[in-house]
Amino acid sequence: MRKIAVMNQKGGVGKTTTSVNLAAGLALQGKRVCILDLDPQAHASLHLGIEVVGETPTVYHAFAGEKTLAQVRRLVAPQLWLAPSNIDLAAAEMELADTPGRELILRGAIDEFLATESYDYLIMDCPPSLGVLTINALSAAEEVMIPLQPHFLALHGLSKLLETTALVTRRLNRKLRVSGIVLCMHESNTRLAADVAADLNEFLSASDAEAPWSQARIFSTKVRRNIKLAEAPSYGKSIFEYAPKSPGAADYLGVVVEVLSMEQAAQQPLQLAQAG
Ligand SMILES: Nc1ncnc2c1ncn2[C@@H]1O[C@H](COP(=O)(O)OP(=O)(O)OP(=O)(O)O)[C@@H](O)[C@H]1O
Ligand SMILES: [Mg+2]
Repeated sequence: MRKIAVMNQKGGVGKTTTSVNLAAGLALQGKRVCILDLDPQAHASLHLGIEVVGETPTVYHAFAGEKTLAQVRRLVAPQLWLAPSNIDLAAAEMELADTPGRELILRGAIDEFLATESYDYLIMDCPPSLGVLTINALSAAEEVMIPLQPHFLALHGLSKLLETTALVTRRLNRKLRVSGIVLCMHESNTRLAADVAADLNEFLSASDAEAPWSQARIFSTKVRRNIKLAEAPSYGKSIFEYAPKSPGAADYLGVVVEVLSMEQAAQQPLQLAQAG
């Protein structure tokens, strides 16, 4: 079971596109996947064709302690569940301001959820901020995946994000690791994209072995800019349903395969240890 928070406090870098298509792709590979929409903008929910109206339970109710995640999540495709959100979740930020232990509410809800249900992947789509919702995701996750748009300020934002991750690792969640950085909306023919990738490599290889990102990989799959990826949400479909032959589908399949290969890599030492 892997719990992955897809986060970057910068807006519009590909968090939701990556969360939804990674989740959908893993489900198509036969994994049981649940995606938690932690953004009051509810883009992941809309991308999967779910617009919450009326009294439908959402992630907000889970934060408010009114519903369990088991009551909130719903099946949206074979093997793929979604705990949807809507704009009500914006209120949670304020309502939780004075609640002790507010950073750990989601972790508690997930622990309760997983006591009765099993998934291979829990994928959390974070909002573009380092507020209480994102901190909840980092406190509940074991892995952080960072979508990054190759941009000359991208690395600047990344250091803030990594500092936050380190802080959460120290104070709230020792298990948290940055597992990977995915370059999104990549334009392979630009010098800038190559420079950002090179700077990133240099930064990661120079980092302290104790840092939670010391084992992070830069995904070798770069997600190219592809109009089909931008169109798919308005049809409420993942890229695999909307345009399975597009470059966008090929790239996210590449991301899915790399995520699955990390699973095997993580299991190998265990197998060796057992064999020995
Ligand atoms: N590879 C891509 N090619 C073309 N368009 C893309 C690609 N990835 C994402 N987009 C589009 O760019 C916009 C921003 O992407 P997305 O919503 O995934 O970013 P985000 O980081 O989740 O944004 P926010 O910070 O608002 O939550 C969306 O309209 C999305 O459809
Ligand atoms: Mg988003």
